[in-house]
Amino acid sequence: MCGIVGYIGAREATSLLLTGLKELEYRGYDSAGIALLGRDGLRSFRAVGKLVNLVTKVGDYRSQGAVAAIGHTRWATHGKPSEENAHPHGLRHSRVVHNGIIENHAALRAMLAKKFASQTDTEVIVHLFEKHLENMPDASDPELAGLAALRATLDELHGAYAILLITESLPGKILFARKGSPLQFGITADGCHFASSDAPLVGICRETVYLEDGQWGIASADTVRLLDAQGIRVEPKTAALPASSLVAQKEGFRTFMEKEIYEQPRVLADILTGRLRDDAVTLEELPTDWLQRFSGVTLCACGTSYHAALAGSYLLERLARLPVRVEIASEFRYRDPVLDPAGLFIVISQSGETADTLEALKLAKGQGLATLALCNVDNSSIVRTADRSILLRAGIEKGVASTKAFSAQVMTLWLLALYWGTAKATLCRDRLSREVIAVRAAVGVMTPPQGIHDRIHRLSKRYLHGHGFFFIGRDLFYPLALEGALKLKEISYLHAEGYPAGEMKHGPIALADARLFTIALMARNSLYDKVRSNVEELSARDSTIVAITAEPFDLADDIIQIRPYDHPMLEFFEMLTVVQLLALEVATRLGNDVDMPRNLAKSVTVE
Ligand code: AGP
Repeated sequence: MCGIVGYIGAREATSLLLTGLKELEYRGYDSAGIALLGRDGLRSFRAVGKLVNLVTKVGDYRSQGAVAAIGHTRWATHGKPSEENAHPHGLRHSRVVHNGIIENHAALRAMLAKKFASQTDTEVIVHLFEKHLENMPDASDPELAGLAALRATLDELHGAYAILLITESLPGKILFARKGSPLQFGITADGCHFASSDAPLVGICRETVYLEDGQWGIASADTVRLLDAQGIRVEPKTAALPASSLVAQKEGFRTFMEKEIYEQPRVLADILTGRLRDDAVTLEELPTDWLQRFSGVTLCACGTSYHAALAGSYLLERLARLPVRVEIASEFRYRDPVLDPAGLFIVISQSGETADTLEALKLAKGQGLATLALCNVDNSSIVRTADRSILLRAGIEKGVASTKAFSAQVMTLWLLALYWGTAKATLCRDRLSREVIAVRAAVGVMTPPQGIHDRIHRLSKRYLHGHGFFFIGRDLFYPLALEGALKLKEISYLHAEGYPAGEMKHGPIALADARLFTIALMARNSLYDKVRSNVEELSARDSTIVAITAEPFDLADDIIQIRPYDHPMLEFFEMLTVVQLLALEVATRLGNDVDMPRNLAKSVTVE
């Protein structure tokens, strides 16, 4: 997730900005930069990699006197991590920093027909702004001209943005706008401070103003002219800031894992930005003629990413009618596998540094297969090794137990299956339309319904000391059962297994008794009656049953009710938040370190 800071005032701004960017490091980034407009004109510094590289670039430069300054940490979504793609972006007279995704950046680039210095969507903002500013009829009032140029620019942008922009015609001012990506400010005796989250303002401001969507305006050191979408001035509403920056980084949640569970709706929304046009799915990273070459797919990963691969295999087979193999990377790499050189080898990884997955990728490349990486970290080893990559757009995932990266992986695989199925003409228009409606609905589904978290918290007290858990499901809900079991065991240290519901009678049912807890994923849109009879067999042998379902089910000891849907993937995503929250609440009751569970690392870079 990118980060923004800004400052207008007479304090030395370079160190202020760099300190603010440091407070944003927790959000993850791969490049950073600052720009300052002061008595020595417009100065800009950018660097790829960690902040220390930017500090080196800045050297002993320090601002003098009144200044308008902006800074940014970038998590690559469009364009590789590089100095050219780092923010601030600028032209002759202006610099801009931006969070969010400009969906129509390609069309705007074509319309502007200018030379662009970067691959980013952001750069179109400063090109548009300077074009409008030059054409402003009345330059007698630079502030009105600047606001009018910003308004005209915003009117052409589709997508999400948090923008800070400085320009030579407005010394000591910052233009700003917010739509779909957080932005806030605070005013103190020594100036006006902007940020994309609380952390950089904690300890500097006592209060902050969280901009609302559609709000924009212009700020100076002691006043902010805040406007609504119609350009009417609005009174800022102030709010208290958290006491500490660590608390601020968790944005009110107890742990990063909890925060990341609740970030999932926005992550899915970011994934869909620019990829759904009417009833069509588009993945600009993968030309359809490239995809059409492949007769089948191998999906390869570890851990949670392997569970996403397994879920993706059902989707690719069903929607794109492709033969799909799914491999656990640590097994695959030593099996001397026989691979179809006409197949596509897809690796899935949150970190992009998992040793087994990287080696499996190299093995496939060595056998001449084309390779694709679905990964959350641009410029990672796996992304740099694969022929092509699709970034997950999940933002940094701090919790060792993966949550939002998993839902991002599954959504990306669902989009890939629809995109590929469309290219192969395996999907009729009506089916594609129904799928796209469900894809759009998934964003809302990942917000847990009111009260469900409290209900899971309350019932978790009954599941702290069993002699084990079975998570069971069929079809798509089998990989979800595996993921639910892994989440629980990773952070609660209780034994849990995911199992195909139909397999219980082939041995595991021997374990059934009152202290064996069965978490049953009973999807009404996927083999419900089959799963129900499997659960009845377990209940008849006294297993304690937790049913996760939209249907009334009288044999359950506990029911966690989900909302009724008419598509299995919507049930999948809502049940996913339930199993994530169940693991979180059990582990929290047991007093475990949810974000840093024992024996685990966020990225397993060794065998
Ligand atoms: C998931 O909660 C675990 N942290 C672990 O299984 C993880 O998914 C696995 O190590 C793979 O990591 P990757 O996605 O970064 O490759």
